[in-house]
Amino acid sequence: MIITENVFIMDHPLIKHKITLLRKKSTGTNEFRKLVEEIAMLMGYEALRDLPTNDVETETPIESCMSPEIAGRKLAIVPILRAGLGMVNGILSLVPSAKVGHIGLYRDEKTHEPHEYYCKLPAFIEEREILVLDPMLATGGSAVSAIDFVKQHGGKNIKFMCIIAAPEGLKKLSEAHPDIRIFCGNLDRCLNENAYICPGLGDAGDRIFGTK
Ligand code: PRP
Ligand code: URA
Repeated sequence: MIITENVFIMDHPLIKHKITLLRKKSTGTNEFRKLVEEIAMLMGYEALRDLPTNDVETETPIESCMSPEIAGRKLAIVPILRAGLGMVNGILSLVPSAKVGHIGLYRDEKTHEPHEYYCKLPAFIEEREILVLDPMLATGGSAVSAIDFVKQHGGKNIKFMCIIAAPEGLKKLSEAHPDIRIFCGNLDRCLNENAYICPGLGDAGDRIFGTK
């Protein structure tokens, strides 16, 4: 489903079903992790549908033909730590040769402002398609900062993928970075007074890693 030219909300029933399982507070760490990975894989299929291809000469058992393969430098996947890590293997199962960068950010519990603690991106980032991953887009502060970093390092062709977005975060991200495409599993209702997404799924990092 296309909300604006650059914002895509998933409408596939498999993604919807798995997000429902993810939301349940009875879903334990092991299942939660598997679901995040599966949803990332299904969303990746949608988000990467415009990867550039080149036709190459290909010998089948029957004859030669021209057949497409992915062109250009390898895709760069950039999870926002910690919770974005949970989505990496889902994308790697589609594009095993992708390079992986990392951006470490945490939200201050009181101000909800993001703080950076790590940034390492693949070489030639300016020539790559880049997929920034984080399951949660809440106030949008973390995603905006992460994409600021990617751009400061030369990144140009950027997509952001989240499993759950709040309207507040989606607005902030699309206004701060109108040139990127944003893929969301679901658009939820709002943020609560602690800047958690409602109904959301709680703290994604804690649920993936079993902390708390
Ligand atoms: C969570 C989540 C996002 C961020 C979203 O991370 O994974 O990175 O909050 O919130 P925002 O849109 O308001 O910035 P958190 O800061 O809790 O860190 P963690 O992944 O290490 O738990
Ligand atoms: N981060 C999370 O993990 N969950 C939210 O609801 C908001 C921010």
